[in-house]
Amino acid sequence: MLETEILAPDVAGVARAAVLLAAGELVAFPTETVYGLGADARDGRAVAGIFAAKGRPRFNPLIVHVADVTAAERLIELPEPGRWLAARFWPGPLTLVAPMRADSGIADLVTAGLPTVAVRVPAHPLAQKLLAAFGGPVAAPSANPSGQVSPTRAEHVIEALAGRIAAVLDGGACPVGLESTIIGFDGERAVLLRPGGLAVETVEAVLDAQVSREPGGTVTAPGQLASHYAPGAGLRLGANRPGPGEAWLGFGPDSEGIAGPALNLSPSGDLTEAAANLFAHLRALDTMLGEGGAIAVAPVPEQGLGLAINDRLTRAAAPR
Ligand code: TXA
Ligand code: MG
Repeated sequence: MLETEILAPDVAGVARAAVLLAAGELVAFPTETVYGLGADARDGRAVAGIFAAKGRPRFNPLIVHVADVTAAERLIELPEPGRWLAARFWPGPLTLVAPMRADSGIADLVTAGLPTVAVRVPAHPLAQKLLAAFGGPVAAPSANPSGQVSPTRAEHVIEALAGRIAAVLDGGACPVGLESTIIGFDGERAVLLRPGGLAVETVEAVLDAQVSREPGGTVTAPGQLASHYAPGAGLRLGANRPGPGEAWLGFGPDSEGIAGPALNLSPSGDLTEAAANLFAHLRALDTMLGEGGAIAVAPVPEQGLGLAINDRLTRAAAPR
């Protein structure tokens, strides 16, 4: 068990939170919507820790928080209406989903392997100070255990996550109390992916156009399985060894020393490391195999982050 630090909303508290984030630790912090559970978005291991702390049974993609529009545009390629919305509503309770830049440095686990990233510039002064002090992108879902309501006070975070996270920055109550509105884009067409703290009518007034309430086309609703990365190669789960022509995705010490295209999610059998490697390894093996190949996957224990890893592997293995 960790001793979760409760950090005061002052210069020292913010500095400590930034140091912990830089060390790959998890820090809950207030935004104007709800408290987020933050980790360095470039550090796959730290991001895997978010899923472990929340007990998330699935790897849903996470929102990346940055200090300003300039920092956001280093991560994503916004279509024109997205730039208007950013100029008008950031900082604020709006999240924009757009194609990720090749050099964004965002860990695969943040996007669940998707080519897009959800980005938000929070307005809460403490969130702003933390992002400025940290100086990098912070991946953060709402700071509640999976399946529970989002926390709007530091006490809610402590009640649910004490001992599982390094610290919570105490900023009192969140003024909006409702998660951010998520907008994606189908080309230049804005699509509502999740209603939230910013009324969609307000967004429409700025765009002078209707925002589609029906995700579809190239944009998919948050959490939908179709929106997740699936390798082109077929997957054979619970395998002992690769068969002829198969690539190997191993787990643990028994999976070492296998010839052919082979990667190990974690040679030491560490589930956090395995989670951090999952999407990158699937993608790498997929690329090595080319058309029509198959990947044999070693069994991953059904405990802790293993549940989310197996959920993801099962979806990737399902016939399409
Ligand atoms: O107000 C908020 O948005 C809070 C604060 C902490 O910022 N965050 C929050 O995060 O609600 P979370 O993880 O509870 O919800 C993130 C949502 C999910 O529905 C997820 O599917 C969606 O964002 N999402 C993230 N990346 C996406 C992407 N690339 N494409 C589509 N949806 C995405
Ligand atoms: Mg949530």
